[in-house]
Amino acid sequence: MSFTVQPAAPARPNRCQLFGPGSRPAIFEKMAASDADVINLDLEDSVAPGDKDAARAHVIDAIGAIDWGPKVLSVRINGLDTPYWYRDVVDLLEQAGDRLDQIMIPKVGCAADLYAVDALVSAVEVAKGRAKPIDFEVIIETAAGFAHVEEIAAATPRLKAMSLGAADFAASMGMATTGIGGTQAGYYMVAPDGSRHWADPWHGVTAAIVAACRTHGVLPVDGPFGDFSDDAGFEAQARRAATLGMVGKWAIHPKQVALANAVFTPSEAQVTEAREILAAMAEAEAAGQGAAVYKGRLVDLASIRQAQVIVTQAEMIDG
Ligand code: COA
Ligand code: MG
Repeated sequence: MSFTVQPAAPARPNRCQLFGPGSRPAIFEKMAASDADVINLDLEDSVAPGDKDAARAHVIDAIGAIDWGPKVLSVRINGLDTPYWYRDVVDLLEQAGDRLDQIMIPKVGCAADLYAVDALVSAVEVAKGRAKPIDFEVIIETAAGFAHVEEIAAATPRLKAMSLGAADFAASMGMATTGIGGTQAGYYMVAPDGSRHWADPWHGVTAAIVAACRTHGVLPVDGPFGDFSDDAGFEAQARRAATLGMVGKWAIHPKQVALANAVFTPSEAQVTEAREILAAMAEAEAAGQGAAVYKGRLVDLASIRQAQVIVTQAEMIDG
């Protein structure tokens, strides 16, 4: 136990982040009309090298031209190991309007990566007199990102969210998979009766991201699930992430938005049960008890904190 209070993560809905290539402006209006809480216009890996300049121009134009409603509007810049990223930052901050909320920095490997971007962003903000400071979100998708996840989470107050990028992560770790998230054929246990049980190869890094984020007041988010024909696989991956403490998941196809929203919006039954637990504990406390019985099981002071997570999440999404 530490006497320092765990800071709250930003109080904003972040159930689904919908991605679209910056080189495909025809889908921007559809993205804006979707039910995703966060929009990620991509300049990185869904844009071919020859399209980088055109994509940047399309994105800068769309930030001001399209009505994005109340969504968080984010642009994924290119990685710091490319020749594109500084131009992404400078052009976005110099030319895009104040509607831009956030930039996403991919393949972050250490806190100094964010220091470098922060220095550039801060200089342009002052030079251009930008009224609204830009927030950051990052992707943990390399072995270095996993190894340095906590210093990254603590790197700058601009940082609001941290996602797991399964595909690049698997490549960087040398994992023997080609799937983007979800069950991997080689990762199984054999039960005593000889049957196979598939375990979760993303568990370790997911828990590390959640711990780093919760320590430093950042939103932990599950990244892409590549097989957009597999709704059951998406839902299972999203439920595991939610169970481990993540607040949302990416959609790389519009049909995944509703699936993510369904998992990351507390259900009426969950909220009712959480409120009943809080009521049972209020009664127990009034009677001078620290523990009580709810539906045949123990609830105690920790149950108040667990129930409060669900109630707070539901109230934040409602309001
Ligand atoms: N956001 C909003 N709408 C989208 C969309 C997106 N990301 N991707 C496709 N659509 C639209 C299509 O324009 C089409 O609209 P229509 O019914 O009005 O014609 C509809 O959704 C169905 O699209 P579909 O034909 O199934 O897909 P596609 O072949 O056009 O595109 C992908 C499939 C995967 C190439 C595309 O969804 C995509 O680029 N996804 C994001 C990739 C990305 O950003 N990756 C980086 C992060 S990992
Ligand atoms: Mg990636």
